[in-house]
Amino acid sequence: MKIIITGGAGFIGSHLVRRWVNNHPGDVIINLDALTYAGNLGNLEDLVSCENYFFVKGDITDKDLLRAVFDTHKPDAVIHLAAESHVDRSISGPDAFIRTNVLGTAALLDTAVSCWKGAMEGKLFYHVSTDEVFGSLGPQGKFTETSPYQPRSPYSASKAASDHLVHAYHHTYGLPAIVSHCSNNFGSHQFPEKLIPLVINNIRHRKPIPVYGKGENVRDWLWVEDHTRAIDLIFHEGRPGETYCIGANNEWKNIDLVLLICTLMDEKLGRKPGESAQRVQHVTDRPGHDARYAIDFSRLHSELGWSPSPDFRAQLSHTIDWYLANDVWLQMVTSGEYMHYYQRHYSNR
Ligand code: NAD
Ligand code: TYD
Repeated sequence: MKIIITGGAGFIGSHLVRRWVNNHPGDVIINLDALTYAGNLGNLEDLVSCENYFFVKGDITDKDLLRAVFDTHKPDAVIHLAAESHVDRSISGPDAFIRTNVLGTAALLDTAVSCWKGAMEGKLFYHVSTDEVFGSLGPQGKFTETSPYQPRSPYSASKAASDHLVHAYHHTYGLPAIVSHCSNNFGSHQFPEKLIPLVINNIRHRKPIPVYGKGENVRDWLWVEDHTRAIDLIFHEGRPGETYCIGANNEWKNIDLVLLICTLMDEKLGRKPGESAQRVQHVTDRPGHDARYAIDFSRLHSELGWSPSPDFRAQLSHTIDWYLANDVWLQMVTSGEYMHYYQRHYSNR
């Protein structure tokens, strides 16, 4: 198959591209990415010489470019990850989220439908969504495939809009489409504006560790390799027209997770036990901060046999090791624009 993966230079996208190029050598991958601040071709340096991998720099809102990519590569499928993905940035600047997540997804859907017209059989539009479209949970319960949409941030609202467009193109134009909703991912190559790499980077450099509010908000953390394994499985064995929830059964209060990372890193860096925890700072809470996310992934488990891998602490430890060993990567992505973002975002908290 020829597959366009959008957003393949980002965090999850780069793991997915690598997995596909290595595990499905008979497929051809076209990585379409605009290389925003969050996209980094350094994430995929090891694939440059692979014959089944192509990179196209381009913006998914550019319909002429999309048409040209479809005409040139004649893809059988699209796996769509390109997005603005950070809640805090969506609060300070929602426009980019509406542009890429809503208009970009619409442009991609429109191109797929017009290029695949009369030949939809065997084609697939796989849309990678988030659990955040379902809103915020209280202490009990989990999101399922039938949970009502209740997005509460500009990020989740823009992702919800893109999900609705995908479902609409499926029902109206017969586009074979699948949507999956995943919980918070962690792993190597994640941009350090997100909690786990930000905390690792700040501990490393003995900087304050910002925890929003009391740190009691709960997230269900999934290793990124488990997410890409689920996408691979759903792509091959899922049913078009369906949605699938992907989660980890691994709920952590932010403060507990941050303190665990402090403990692991004090050990790894040979620091006094408790040294890093002293740098935790409770800062002004995120506006509209969703209290809890949790995912019931029983459909994916019972229908397709997927489970998350079991050892969270080992994956977290492995992830910390990766950031410690890749200081150059961290320095590269935290220079320039990141410094301005960091100063703007944290200086008044
Ligand atoms: P990321 O921000 O690390 O990467 C996004 C990628 O999209 C970047 O490479 C960027 O250059 C590219 N991009 C942005 N705007 C573009 C545009 N207009 N045209 C082309 N490319 C563009 O994001 P991520 O964390 O890897 O998330 C990938 C997808 O998975 C997103 O759709 C996100 O909503 C979804 N998701 C993420 C998580 C998570 O925990 N990170 C959880 C569930 C779902
Ligand atoms: P984040 O990684 O931004 O993911 P999301 O908002 O999509 O869940 O944040 C994870 C949690 O960590 C969220 O509850 C907000 C919190 N958080 C902090 O407490 N401090 C920080 O500096 C950041 C970036 C996040």
